[in-house]
Parts: sequence; structure tokens; C-alpha cells
Amino acid sequence: MLNHLPNLKQFLSEYYFMEIIHLSAECYPVAKVGGLGDVVGALPKYQNKLGHVAKVVMPAYNSKFLYENEFETVYDGWVKVASTNYQARILREKTNKLGFDIFLVHIAGLFDREGVYGYSDDTERFIAFQIAALDWIAQWEHRPDVVHVHDHHTGLIPFMLGNCNQYRHLSQIPTVLTIHNAQYQGQFGWDKLHYFPPFDLINTNKLDWDNAINPLASAIKCAWRVTTVSPSYLEEISHVANGLEGLLSQERGKSIGVLNGIDTEVWNPQKDKMIVKGFNARTIESGKKANKEELCRVFNLDSTKPLFTFIGRLVGEKGADLLPDIFYNALAQSDGEINILVLGSGDSHVEDRLNEITHHYAGRYNAYIGYNEALSHQIYAGADFLLMPSRVEPCGLNQMYALRYGTIPIVRRIGGLKDTVIDIGDGGFGICHDQTSVWDVGHAIGRAYELYLDQDKVKEIRRYMMSIDHSWDNSAQQYIDIYQM
Ligand code: ADP
Ligand code: GLC
Repeated sequence: MLNHLPNLKQFLSEYYFMEIIHLSAECYPVAKVGGLGDVVGALPKYQNKLGHVAKVVMPAYNSKFLYENEFETVYDGWVKVASTNYQARILREKTNKLGFDIFLVHIAGLFDREGVYGYSDDTERFIAFQIAALDWIAQWEHRPDVVHVHDHHTGLIPFMLGNCNQYRHLSQIPTVLTIHNAQYQGQFGWDKLHYFPPFDLINTNKLDWDNAINPLASAIKCAWRVTTVSPSYLEEISHVANGLEGLLSQERGKSIGVLNGIDTEVWNPQKDKMIVKGFNARTIESGKKANKEELCRVFNLDSTKPLFTFIGRLVGEKGADLLPDIFYNALAQSDGEINILVLGSGDSHVEDRLNEITHHYAGRYNAYIGYNEALSHQIYAGADFLLMPSRVEPCGLNQMYALRYGTIPIVRRIGGLKDTVIDIGDGGFGICHDQTSVWDVGHAIGRAYELYLDQDKVKEIRRYMMSIDHSWDNSAQQYIDIYQM
């Protein structure tokens, strides 16, 4: 397989500083639904710190960022999807305030809405976005060194670059796909084949998976390199990948697992403006106490008792459907000795059940159903334990934020959680369990409670966790090496 791959090194060896174009549906702080936004908001900044020129191209949603910053128009054109012509304009934020150039693709009628995903015309929206971005790049007088796409929303780009007539002159630009989550693939029917710019129909097989057009599968086939966001996830997706297992095994030769980093400037407990008291490894005890007291005051909890928390999307992948039963059991069994606080949104049935617990255990349990960036920082800073009973976790950033804020992670041994959390029983700092089950998580909470009673041990663990370096410095360089392979 490898013998047939274009040799990236040959193309890139003459460059030292590379121009890298990231294309993504999310990028913090412009638009974030989950960890994809965090990664695309940080990786380019760290690549630039290494001396490269990394840029981000994403849709222009109706976001605060769009209204609160100044932009210049770098491209004005039209994009045709099916029989509709949409006006497309690309805006560059003028000051480089994010540490990289950010380009927002404004497509009237498709992206002038608040939400990122979840619309019935998402296929049309993201195809239009990808075509507009490539039409713009096709006009440049030079070619970027790498086009790096993230997840299925930008997964048709490697195919389009390699096969569509109008981008033929760009076909030698190396492409890298990062799979943040293989559960979501963006499939749609063959009746939408005419959405694509013209290409030789002999190549339609590069779009196909399971009798549908599958953007993630197409990217896995067409990208020059494929990465996953942790090494363990790369191992796992050959066995469990929502139908793509065979393809991923087949393309394993060009695939590499690179553990995500975290943006240690945004997530810095010493300087974090969203928390009531900043702290570092030396001042963790007083810092944790102040932040916990404030959090417990706001949510009517008891700051003298251990505080267990969950932050995240309330979906099956995260094991969120089991949380209500896990919490009812833990609260009943602990006899008033623990607190629980949840921050999340998603499945409405799970949301309702999580809200319901408040009526039975007021003063010991609370839930904030919704998305709240500042509150997430306050919880990482004020909690004692963070639960992540994920069924699937390609990397997971929450556990790394928890470590940085001295909060002990309780995680299922899966994907990136396995790569970043070592159990206290193995000389580590976290609590790990093997299954996403009410029993396993309940048992883990019991172990955490025991640990909490040994405050000297807790203090030692907190200091140790805060010294672990999960900054992007290492992984940003790994991506550069991959571009040059
Ligand atoms: P995923 O991307 O699968 O949702 P990650 O662990 O990679 O999981 O990243 C989740 C990111 O989203 C973290 O930054 C986390 O703090 C944030 N987050 C998730 N849910 C919420 C919420 N309800 N409010 C604020 N932040 C949230
Ligand atoms: C996805 C994954 C998550 C990962 C994030 C960033 O949303 O579900 O595990 O941390 O992408 O790569």
C-alpha cells in the first residue's frame, strides 16, 4: 500500500516553514460544540509558534465572534450546489488575535444561522463550504504546502482536490485527514452526486461506502495521510468504527495516532479569569477550596463533602444515558456524604432525568442543562472528581483539563482516556474502570470516596497531576513530522 502513496517527503523536503491550511466546522473561540473546536483553535497556534504558517478556514456562522471583530473580504464569488447559486464571501479577521489567520466562509442562506450542525440541509451547507473554500484557494498565485481536514464536514476535500476538473492544478497538494470521531460520517444518497463540481465518473468509487456517498470514508480513501486523535483510538477503530472498520484496517499503512494536546494558555488555572481564585501546583489546596466553595454556594451543595462532576454532551457515546441511575445509586448509598454536579446538554430524555434528580436530592445534587463555557472552567477548578464513563472516546479533552486544574479523573479505559489516565492502583493518579456500566462506575465512585478520606494522598495526587504536561508543544511537532513523511 505504502509504495503507491505519493511521497510527502519528496514534496515537502525543500520547505522548512510550511503553509498549512486547516479546514474545519469548528474552531474555538469562533464556534465550538465540543473538542473539535478546542483542537482546531489550538493546534494552528502551536504550529505557528514552531515557525510555520498555519491558517484556519471555517464557515461564518452567526456568532459573537463575527459581530465583535473586524474583517476584510479576501474573496467574493458564487458557489453552485445542485441548481442553486449561493453568494460566497470569505472574510479574514484583521488582527491575527487568535495566533493564526482565521478565514470565515460566509454563504448567504446556508451559514447565516446560529447553530453549527443539526439542520436538514447540512449536506448542502458543508458541500457548499468545501467548494467555496477550494474555489478561493484555486485562485491563489501559490499553493499551500498541506491541506489538513478535520472530520467528515471537510472530508470531501481530499477527493475534490484529487479529482474535480476545476482543481486539477491543486491535485499535488498533500492532504491529511484527522479523525476526531468516526461515529459521525456525514453519509448521503447518490441522488446528490450532481452537487459535486464536474469530475470523471470513473472515480465515483472513491466517494462510496455501503452504497452511499460517505464523506469520512472518502477522506480515509483519498487523504495522503490519516491521523486519529490518540494512539489507542487508532487500534480500536480497526474493530469498532460504525461500519468503517474494514476500510480503516485496509488504510492502516498511512494512518498514525497522535494524542491531542490542550491549549495551556486558555486552560491555565493560574491566570484563568473565569474562576474565582487562580492557583498553581503550590497553591492548589487554597485555590481548589475557594473555587469549590463558590461552586457549591451557587449550586446549593455542601463544600465540606467530595464533589463529583460530569461535563459533556449527553449522548450514548459518553455513557450519559447511564448517569441518572449511577447518580441515584451513589446518592442513595453515600448517605449524604457526597455532592454531584452535572453540566451538559443533548438527549432530551437524559436531560429530563438529570433534572428530575434535583427534586429528590436538593442540597446534594444539581444539574445545569445547557452549554456554558465559563461554568465548565469553574467546575474543572472547583470539583474533586470528574466522571467520564465513555463508551467511545477518541481522545477526550475533559480529563486533561481536569488534570491541569487538580481534579481527579474517573474514566473508562478506552481510547484517549486509556492513553492519558493511569489508575492509582498502578501507581497513577486517576480511577479507571473497564466497562460503561452502572455497576463499574458505581464501584469507581466508591473507590474515589475512599481515596478522598485520605487527604494527604489526595494532595499529593493533585500536585502530581498539575505537573503533567499535555500542552500542544509535542503533538504540534508530530503533525509537522507527519506532513513531511
Ligand atoms: P467531545 O468533543 O466528544 O464532546 P471532548 O472531551 O474532546 O469531547 O471535548 C469536550 C469539550 O467541550 C471540552 O472543552 C468541554 O469542556 C466542552 N463541553 C462539553 N459540554 C459542555 C457544556 N455543556 N458546557 C461547556 N462546555 C462543554
Ligand atoms: C471528538 C471526540 C473526542 C476528542 C475530540 C477532539 O469530539 O469525541 O474524544 O477529544 O473530538 O479531538
